[in-house]
Amino acid sequence: MKTFTQKINESVGYIEPTVKNLILDKLYNAYREEIAAWYYYISVSEFLCGPSRKDIEEFYEDAAKDEFEDHAKWILERIAQLGGNPSFVTVFSALSSIAHPYVNPIVVDGNIMIQSSLEDCKQMEMGAIETYKDLEEITRNVDPVTNRKVKAILADEEEHLQEIEDFLCDVGIHGSCGCGCCDCGDTDARDCELKCPSDSCDVPNIPDMHDIEF
Ligand SMILES: [Fe+2]
Ligand SMILES: [Fe+2]
Repeated sequence: MKTFTQKINESVGYIEPTVKNLILDKLYNAYREEIAAWYYYISVSEFLCGPSRKDIEEFYEDAAKDEFEDHAKWILERIAQLGGNPSFVTVFSALSSIAHPYVNPIVVDGNIMIQSSLEDCKQMEMGAIETYKDLEEITRNVDPVTNRKVKAILADEEEHLQEIEDFLCDVGIHGSCGCGCCDCGDTDARDCELKCPSDSCDVPNIPDMHDIEF
């Protein structure tokens, strides 16, 4: 139940200064994370290699549009409306300080393997969901404008995560351990990005791509 003062404050768009500063801090971070996500999706999409490449490339391009044209631009606008400090969004080095650090894609022979990239994206989207859940909680009942948009962005991030998990499931039906569930033809695990998903398989799985030194 909102108090009378809360209702009046909401109707005039007033946000208590310390709360506003907290919201701004979270928005600076969200903005940087959106730019990092856009940067990942847009630059990786051209170098993907593996099953369902075309579909995944298309998804990366669409996700890049969501992250930049919708999410990042709106957050920037809101930061300006709330009287934020431009230094926190215009200084390029600020991009390196985000709550959920940017994951460098693994490049193998000039390509970025689909499974390892999808795992990077999964991590990135899970981080975004955490960021927006946090923002939703902080803005609830104190900043309805930000809260409304944050809920919409959160829904987009959850959709991105769902699509990534579906793609991971699609590519995960094969494996590279040699048990016969892989159809890529590669006998060397390093040449194949896929891990056998079957628990019943008695051939050891290859290590996670992130643990391999090339
Ligand atoms: Fe986003
Ligand atoms: Fe996303």
